[in-house]
Amino acid sequence: MNVLVVDDETVQVESLARGLRHRGYQVLEALSAEEALKHLSDNHSKIDLVLLDYIMPGMNGIELLRNIRENYGFLPVIMMTAYGEKNLVIDALYNRCDSFMEKPFDLDELIREIEKAMENQNLRSFKDKHLRKIAEKELDEVSFWSYAVYIEGKLLVSGLNLNKLTDMAIDMFVELMRVESGCLMLFNEKSLELSISSVKGSKQKHIQEESSIEIEKDVVKWIVDWRKPILLSDIDELFIREFFGKMSEKIGFEIALFCPLIMKDKFVGLINLGEKESKKPFSRKDARLLSSMSGHVAVAIENAKLYEGLLKSYLSTVSALAEAIETKDPYTRGHSERVSKYAAVIARGMNLPESEIERIRIAGILHDIGKIGVQEGILLKFAPLTDAEFAVIKEHPVLSARIIEKAEFPWEITSLARHHHERYGGNGYPDGLKGEDIPLGARILAVADTYEALLADRPYRRGFPKEKALEIIKDAAGTQLDPKIVPVFLELVEKGEIE
Ligand SMILES: [Fe+2]
Repeated sequence: MNVLVVDDETVQVESLARGLRHRGYQVLEALSAEEALKHLSDNHSKIDLVLLDYIMPGMNGIELLRNIRENYGFLPVIMMTAYGEKNLVIDALYNRCDSFMEKPFDLDELIREIEKAMENQNLRSFKDKHLRKIAEKELDEVSFWSYAVYIEGKLLVSGLNLNKLTDMAIDMFVELMRVESGCLMLFNEKSLELSISSVKGSKQKHIQEESSIEIEKDVVKWIVDWRKPILLSDIDELFIREFFGKMSEKIGFEIALFCPLIMKDKFVGLINLGEKESKKPFSRKDARLLSSMSGHVAVAIENAKLYEGLLKSYLSTVSALAEAIETKDPYTRGHSERVSKYAAVIARGMNLPESEIERIRIAGILHDIGKIGVQEGILLKFAPLTDAEFAVIKEHPVLSARIIEKAEFPWEITSLARHHHERYGGNGYPDGLKGEDIPLGARILAVADTYEALLADRPYRRGFPKEKALEIIKDAAGTQLDPKIVPVFLELVEKGEIE
């Protein structure tokens, strides 16, 4: 992937270019907007993303962005801003700037923004391509199927999240079928209920999330036997018409066409669609396409449910392991849970993606699991530890990593557990990693772990008062702790998001 870096400061351009090249990107460098435009006119087809600075002599970042939009369409652009330049954001957004990086930022953050911008760009070009197709001629099955394949791909990327999947599916149905509204409901076979998972275009402003409606067995049987999409106006059976009438009220639009989601013989859910935007009647072709798509979505929903079940069982393993640590060391009762909570709040405060926040949360619960292997005499000792005893304690991150690795969790948390006692300045353990060589999640855990440890009572000392603990954390920025994470943490404490 090719990135064009534009900044009038040579040092900044060189350092960004070096970092990005190190991560496998091809980089073009420009020291002014004019130079950037020259690169774009010479190599436009080869440039995938532009990273540009706002303040530059001559043409500034916004003017360059405008020029890019006029001449190069939606080429992804990330703008680098300094603190206090927030007023430019509206102007930049108006010109479809994909993202902002407030200086100073680290390379990990930048890479995440680049990945996000590229993902949006892929989605945009995919949608454009298909919408153009739809505009040019009647929607064909190829468009539908390729959308379905795309949905499955996105589903894998989104970590098989059921809500995201149904949101994407309903967006797709509404967009491609050109209807005013749509709703996807999931069936719970135990409670015999249909619950609203995603809704679009409803007249009701406040549809309660996961609001559900009971469904009688004979209605389920009718739907499963019927299997295909059907227009409500074509149904003779009064009890079915009544059921869908009730449901229309609940979801806030008049259902015109519905389609069961069935996988093998299992009723998974229901897609309800409102009228067409054109007010024209649905054609048989519409119904056929809806039917072929819905099978695909039903499979994806079942997969997502299976995955969620699997995650639940992993999470119960995590809780059992966490309890095992606390049984061994009652002084740390609740420690892992609190570290996990603080770390997740910090990760969220740093705008990390949901999947990353979850990974850090789980790593927080398990980071000290290796203490299981430390003798109780050392773990619970009242007096200060001898060097030999401390050497034993220092083994625990390695042991944590070894245990976690064996469990083969679906989150990569081994490295976070192994490195949670590394120090930003480089003299931590077990590997003496330094600065950003320490995984970001482990640097976040270190802040959360230190804060919790300072507040807590230990066999050999009372906990520090909160103010003192915050002071110690502030002083540790740059030596023990990441100086970019500490201010985020302190702000979160100030806002009351961390107690
Ligand atoms: Fe630890």
